[in-house]
Amino acid sequence: MMRVMAAALWVAVCQSSLLFGADAAPKVEELLHRMTLDEKIGQLTQIGGMAFIPGSPKPEDAVRKGQAGSVLWLNDPAAINRLQKIAMEETRLKIPLLFGLDVIHGFRTIFPMPLALASSWDGKLIERVQSMAAREARAAGIAWTFAPMVDIARDPRWGRIIEGAGEDPFLGSMVARAQVRGFQGDDVGQPDRVLACAKHFAGYGKADGGRDYDSSYISDSELFNVYLPPFRAALDAGVATFMSAYMDLNDVPATGNAFLLEDVLRKSWKFPGFVVSDANAIRDLVTHGFAHDRSDAAYRAFTAGVNMDMASGTYLGNLGALVKAGKIPESAIDAAVRPILAAKFRLGLFERPYADEARAKTIIGAPEHRQVAREAARESAVLLRNERETLPLSKDGKSIAVIGPLADEKRDLLTMWAGFDVDASSTVTVLEGIRAKAGAGARVEHAPGVQIRKQNPSMFDGLFGGKPPAVWTPEQEKAEFAKAVEVAKRADMVVLVLGERAMMSGEWASQASLELPGRQQELMEAVAATGKPVVLVLVNGRPLNITWAAEHIPAILEAWHPGMEGGNAIADLLFGDANPGGRLPLSWPRNVGQVPVYYAHNLTHQPETSLGFKSRYWDQPSAPLYPFGYGLSYTKCGISNLRLKESAVKMGSVVEVSVDVENTGQRAGTEVVQVYIHQMAGSASRPVRELKGFEKVWLKPGEKKTVNISLGKSELSYWSSASRGWVEEAESFDLWVGTDATAKLHTNFKILP
Ligand code: NOJ
Repeated sequence: MMRVMAAALWVAVCQSSLLFGADAAPKVEELLHRMTLDEKIGQLTQIGGMAFIPGSPKPEDAVRKGQAGSVLWLNDPAAINRLQKIAMEETRLKIPLLFGLDVIHGFRTIFPMPLALASSWDGKLIERVQSMAAREARAAGIAWTFAPMVDIARDPRWGRIIEGAGEDPFLGSMVARAQVRGFQGDDVGQPDRVLACAKHFAGYGKADGGRDYDSSYISDSELFNVYLPPFRAALDAGVATFMSAYMDLNDVPATGNAFLLEDVLRKSWKFPGFVVSDANAIRDLVTHGFAHDRSDAAYRAFTAGVNMDMASGTYLGNLGALVKAGKIPESAIDAAVRPILAAKFRLGLFERPYADEARAKTIIGAPEHRQVAREAARESAVLLRNERETLPLSKDGKSIAVIGPLADEKRDLLTMWAGFDVDASSTVTVLEGIRAKAGAGARVEHAPGVQIRKQNPSMFDGLFGGKPPAVWTPEQEKAEFAKAVEVAKRADMVVLVLGERAMMSGEWASQASLELPGRQQELMEAVAATGKPVVLVLVNGRPLNITWAAEHIPAILEAWHPGMEGGNAIADLLFGDANPGGRLPLSWPRNVGQVPVYYAHNLTHQPETSLGFKSRYWDQPSAPLYPFGYGLSYTKCGISNLRLKESAVKMGSVVEVSVDVENTGQRAGTEVVQVYIHQMAGSASRPVRELKGFEKVWLKPGEKKTVNISLGKSELSYWSSASRGWVEEAESFDLWVGTDATAKLHTNFKILP
């Protein structure tokens, strides 16, 4: 009964005009009034547009029968229009279909992967990227993206770390806001916009052991202070939809989790939009050992607050009977349908249901999109090491060996999410980028050296991975390895491109080890042993164990999976036509044994440097290899003159921080000025440092700028386990400013009662 009462409360929330604006409300009510129960349940159903799942009904039939309100995974405008025509001409009420797709980092033009975009620390750029992704998708008839993924992830074994913004809730919130703005703009009804979807609500990034879909156990303190803030930020930016996650959160599957969907999302946050389940997640409440059967699964997901069933048909098969049996009131069904219809009105789908196929051709892959893809890849790459100014390379016609299994690969510069019929052929490989840039006189030779592959491919490899290359024989392996070393020997210098293939990260692509896959480490050591100067370019989805490289390879550039313009962008950076602008959105572990390692951990009774200790491990440092926020550039910036407007402010007021940043080097470039705080005592222990402000500043050589950052209530308050609520406390704080989480410039301030 409690659940039914909660559903009634949800009715009230959903009826508020907040939900869809005053304009759509009467239209929604008028339409709802004319709908049968079956038609309403149809609107709560999303079907797969590609009938590749055995046994799933043909999409055309489902649409014709009014059994689908939304379709996922179709991406060809002609196919979308064909299905929409059935909805618009052959169904009683002519309610347009809402087409949804995973437009994660581009539709046809593929931009850098999301974790890479987060490495840019540049909200405007991220917004621009996602607005272009939205533009292409909407032109093709897709009005809803299942993005942004805002899951905080602190375990690089988890393959989906690539889809988020890394370990930090403050940075993650900025990235979430930027993405929502990019997708939805000010008015999602405009022709170039799509509905965004904050996913996966909530806690998916803390999968046990980094194993995809495994349970997450998250304390309330971590949930409110770390995992939920990016979702809240997406909501504040107006995100239209949420997706419930797959896994158990503290033993209750997120898709049947009334605490998350009702108490937090609707009651506390007053979310007015709609929630879609993850694919098949409602049906799988049975598999979880949570629901007794499919009817129970439908009941529990629905009453917990999931509006739309993605792909499992569980609502379609069971909600009608549950209403007829009096277990769910029809008014609750109405409440669930309202925000879906409202979204369709907001999008203008009733007036413009079809994609303009001719227009789509002019928009998809537009040159300005490629240009931004290149810029974004340059801003996302993180220069991790650059001894003796190995980089940038000169264009003086020296011979270059470009070695490694990823040096001339196109598909691997993209991610698994570029699998929906994306034509990877226009992707510029690292080799191609270097060849185009190195100049006519330069001799550029390539050898892959080794092959890499996944031992346990998932269903997605078959769907999205393309045809795997033929496996080398042992003789070929030997010959290719030797050839790569020979090519290195006869060159003046080596660019070594190592890392992971596209399908080695993403969904269902977790891994237990963080070593470079295959024989890449061996190849790197053999190439380094030639004595030639080596630049390591990493193409990968997650931090890997590069502790050997960090000592022996003079220059390391983390390029991530950089998207279609990756090769050009990497060449721009290698040859100094651009200056690396990326900073790590996570702490880079030395090896898998340190995982999870994140900078915002608490203090302990015994600081790690006391009593002669150097580390919390006796066999290695406990600090990561590279700290959160870290990244080099080809210029040097100094940060000085840290000052506070007032060092003691009354609670509720703002702490104003200023600092000067000066480019003391020879090249123009960016610096990311970062502000960290630590509350020194309080009702609960607070992390040793927390990022609470930053600004990315572009500086000409010799230029000096002042950066001003304000810390207000949202930066100074936290969720306290002691009082089980949000608190701002009259306490003393440390404050540091610098260029990564080990920032040294320090001062203190006080919050007065
Ligand atoms: C499952 C994934 O978890 C989710 O992120 C995605 O949006 C859906 N499949 C649809 O592709």
